Amino acid sequence: MKVMIKSDYEAVSLAAARQIAALVREKPTAVLGLATGSTPLGTYRRLIRLHLEGLDLSRVRTFNLDEYLGIEMDLSKGYSQDQSYARFMHEEFFKHVNIPRNHINIPDGRAENPKEHCRRYEERIKEAGGIDLQLLGIGRVGHWAFNEPGSPLDSRTRIQPLARQTLDDNYDKFYKKAGIARKDMPHFAITMGVGTILQSRSILMLGTGAEKTDIVARALEGPVSTDVTASAIQIYTGRAVVILDRAAASSLKNIKPE
Ligand code: PGA
Repeated sequence: MKVMIKSDYEAVSLAAARQIAALVREKPTAVLGLATGSTPLGTYRRLIRLHLEGLDLSRVRTFNLDEYLGIEMDLSKGYSQDQSYARFMHEEFFKHVNIPRNHINIPDGRAENPKEHCRRYEERIKEAGGIDLQLLGIGRVGHWAFNEPGSPLDSRTRIQPLARQTLDDNYDKFYKKAGIARKDMPHFAITMGVGTILQSRSILMLGTGAEKTDIVARALEGPVSTDVTASAIQIYTGRAVVILDRAAASSLKNIKPE
C-alpha cells in the first residue's frame, strides 16, 4: 500500500480528487465506489472544481457504499429525511457534476425487500464490470462503510446494526444539527461488505483529523482483525493508496510515507 501524508484536510482532499480525476481521464467509463461522511466532503468539492474546469464525468458510473435503513432515496421523488446518504450525495456532489442519474447507484434504504435489494446491489456491481476505484474513509470504530466491529472480512452487501460509537459520531456530526432526536436516527444500515470492497480494483482510503490518529494506526499497522474492519487493507491485493493528514498519521510507527 502506498501511504501519502499531507499537511491538512484541504491538501488531502486535493490529492484525493486528483487521483480520481486521473483515473477518469485514463478511463472515462470508470466505475467509482463512493463514500459519505465528513472526510470525503472536501474531495467532492475539489472534484466539482475540476469538473467546472473541464473534467467530464458523463460516462462514469458510481456505487455508494452504504445507506441508512428506512430512509428515502428515490431521487425522482425527493427526500423524506434530510439525513439520507442519497441526499448527501446529491447535495454535495451529484447535482454539481454531469454524472447521469441512471449511472448512480446508492443502496435503497426504503427497499421493500432489503435482503433481495442487497443481493441485487452486488449483482449490479458485477454487471457494471466491478469497481475500478473505491473511495473510503475510516470510522472511529475502524469501520469501512458500515462494516462495524465483528463484520467478517468476506462479508457482502447486507443489513448491519450500527455500533454505539458510530451512532454517537453520526448523531453529533449530522443528526443533531438537523434537530432530529437521537432515538429517531436509524440504528441499521445497508452496507457493502468488506469482501465487496476488497474486490475493487483499487482503493483510495482517506483519514483526517486527530480523532482518527489511533484507529488509523490500528488499521494500517495493527493485527488484521474483524475488530477493525479497515485492517483488511493489509490483505488487499489490488492497488491501495492511503492519504492522511499529519494529525491522523501521527501515531504510525513503521509505515514510511511515499
Ligand atoms: P467521517 O466518517 O468521514 O464522518 O469521519 C468516516 C466513516 O465513518 O467511515
